[in-house]
Amino acid sequence: MVCLGNICRSPLADGLLRHKVNQRGLSWEVDSAGTANYHVGAPPDARMVDTARSMGFDISALRARQFSKEDFMRFDRIYVMDRSNYTNVIKVASTQEEHDKVLFLLDHLYPGKEAEVPDPYYGTSEDFNDVFALVDEATNALLNDLTYEP
Ligand code: 4NP
Repeated sequence: MVCLGNICRSPLADGLLRHKVNQRGLSWEVDSAGTANYHVGAPPDARMVDTARSMGFDISALRARQFSKEDFMRFDRIYVMDRSNYTNVIKVASTQEEHDKVLFLLDHLYPGKEAEVPDPYYGTSEDFNDVFALVDEATNALLNDLTYEP
């Protein structure tokens, strides 16, 4: 899960998906990173931690790191939150296979729309709640799509 700072949107997506993956007993590796290095080593933004906690999820233990080329080797799928993240991650891809790993998280809710999870950093508590609802729904849809057995 990738966003700009790795302190608001992607740690939320990471925390929610990890929780749901564990609940389902899946052995997936889930992690998150930011395209920028401003917040490396920092915990998630307190507003995001509080929003997640109020909905029953603890994301406080995550620490920010910067996205790197090695992530293309470690992960099968790289989910970005917005178009700017997409552009920055694609820049580091060196093969078509790596390029094709980069997906918009909201594609699981709105296929083909390249819809964005809005950056709440300069927003209100309502914006944080909206991001929570969107990421919660998107991670449910992702799990259903990837575990679907006809
Ligand atoms: P995020 O939000 O990309 O969802 O973690 C942001 C966090 C920090 C900044 C911007 C967005 N910043 O400019 O420091």
